Amino acid sequence: MRQAGRSLPEYRKIREGIGMLESCRRPDLVTEITLQPVRRHDVDAAILFSDIVVPIAAAGVDLDIVAGTGPVVAEPIRSAADLERLRPITADDVDFVAEAVRLLVAELGATPLIGFAGAPFTLASYLIEGGPSRTYLKTKAMMYGAPDLWEALLGRLAEITLTFLRTQVAAGVSAVQLFDSWAGALSEADYRRYVMPHSATVLRGLAEAGVPRIHFGVGTAVLLEAMGEAGADVVGVDWRTPLDVATKRIGPERAVQGNLDPAILFAGWDVVEREARRVLEQGRSAPGHVFNLGHGVMPETDPEILTRLVALVHEVSAR
Ligand code: CP3
Repeated sequence: MRQAGRSLPEYRKIREGIGMLESCRRPDLVTEITLQPVRRHDVDAAILFSDIVVPIAAAGVDLDIVAGTGPVVAEPIRSAADLERLRPITADDVDFVAEAVRLLVAELGATPLIGFAGAPFTLASYLIEGGPSRTYLKTKAMMYGAPDLWEALLGRLAEITLTFLRTQVAAGVSAVQLFDSWAGALSEADYRRYVMPHSATVLRGLAEAGVPRIHFGVGTAVLLEAMGEAGADVVGVDWRTPLDVATKRIGPERAVQGNLDPAILFAGWDVVEREARRVLEQGRSAPGHVFNLGHGVMPETDPEILTRLVALVHEVSAR
């Protein structure tokens, strides 16, 4: 998940003096950074080093990823005229990502590479707000108050996201993850009405690609069922909902991913072990379980604890 690398000294070193977006555009750097956590922790899969705003920067939007803040958009999209600054993309616009994926697949051998993209709602929130938000006021104002513009914006984002993910699949990723990190700001009814059709365009558009589709958001307890229905094979769950409860909501057709609270990693090894065992136990009620954190790794996390956690998960789940 996001920032897994940030806890690693070797990541901070390689990124010295190089901006986040620039690093994402350099296949040699993307390859090295993606491999770092695999080498260190012996995880079962690699997650592509990139960011959810990479394709919208490729679509012509002037934006930056500011350390400690996140994506910041120079001129937010708030009118039909603004929407023209977000043009559709082709595979050529993100050829640097395809190149990185090809290099990585060659390096990784049997270890799968997970590609990813941001979902239309979460991308729209950055484009409309101009940066991170706690309330999503401007986003919701457009969603409720200018539904035609909303539909046009989310439709455009779904198209861009689908092209971005198809490019990654064509270059060789083994699975894709769609991050709707901030969808938890919505009620189930509004999610189904204003957001789910666009996420479904992306996920269903990949049905023929033959790779598992993971769909993740934070604070999505009431949305888990709908997020599965949108076309996911695996539903990512944050730490607020136990995986056995999540499985009852999602149903027997889909696997779950999650969901150790990233803050647990600061509580000492005994607590980490107890909680990781609980997560693995609760995950057994699902038809499949991808062990993960319930959200991104905090940059202050001790990398040694992460290595030990991976070893514990391997030991317990081998039985
Ligand atoms: O482990 C990885 O590095 C995987 C690659 C990855 C990044 N971003 C790199 C990154 C992934 C999967 C993401 C996804 C992402 N980006 C999401 C969805 C996942 C989630 O966490 O909910 C979101 C919402 C973003 C937007 C974004 N980009 C935020 C909120 C931030 C953090 C800002 C901060 O510094 O606190 C970023 C920056 C970012 N993306 C970093 C990394 C490694 C940190 C950049 C740095 O090193 O300074």
